[in-house]
Amino acid sequence: MKLHLSSWPEVEAYLKTSRGIVIPIGSTEQHGPNGLIGTDALCPEIIAGEAADAAGFLVGPTFNVGMAQHHLDFPGSMTLRPSTMIAALQDWITSLVRTGFDRIYFLNGHGGNITTLNAAFCEFYAEYSLRGEACPVRLTQNNWWQLPGVMDVCKKHFPVGEGGHATPSEVSVTYYAYPEAIKSVEMHPKIAPSGRFADAADFRASFPDGRCGSDPAQASPEAGARIVEAARTALVRDVAAFFAS
Ligand code: NI
Repeated sequence: MKLHLSSWPEVEAYLKTSRGIVIPIGSTEQHGPNGLIGTDALCPEIIAGEAADAAGFLVGPTFNVGMAQHHLDFPGSMTLRPSTMIAALQDWITSLVRTGFDRIYFLNGHGGNITTLNAAFCEFYAEYSLRGEACPVRLTQNNWWQLPGVMDVCKKHFPVGEGGHATPSEVSVTYYAYPEAIKSVEMHPKIAPSGRFADAADFRASFPDGRCGSDPAQASPEAGARIVEAARTALVRDVAAFFAS
């Protein structure tokens, strides 16, 4: 069930059976020479959408611009400052709580969001803690690639060149869902360099084509289908446990 395709009476009826919702959260940023700019938002959206169809839980709109300042030297990348993102997340969370939700599960697709998302959760809880009230709401985040069993499938398909950014696994997930957007590009070098980075200029200097440690030329819709299948199954279990907590 998708929030944006539901009517308010349908959401009201859903809230009588569950007070939980899943929010895909990602980023709009370069993903190397053959990866889609939307990769980090699309992956959790695709996985959460399939899991929701299987299990019947509600999925909200995708929070699709995240904390990606280090990608801004590549055309098409967008970022929220951490402070802006925390403020936006506060309003998303508070709106959902105001209308009756008390379990909000963020399925994350971008490593750069993790710290800011946790800070947003702490800001939300702090309002209750400072007032000396018990908070009835629980918030959680999980990275899709860290759902139980998912990395095993990724490693099986891509034992070499998975890397950390613009990975063949995440590119495969998007190619599975959007085969019309598949791009064939030769990678030089075959496997990109790895390492640390600070700002956008530093990132581009260290990783000139946008990849980190990866060879996404290996990506395929077939591998994407297997990865989504594993992630969808694990997400259904994880969401059920969290909603029941
Ligand atoms: Ni990514």
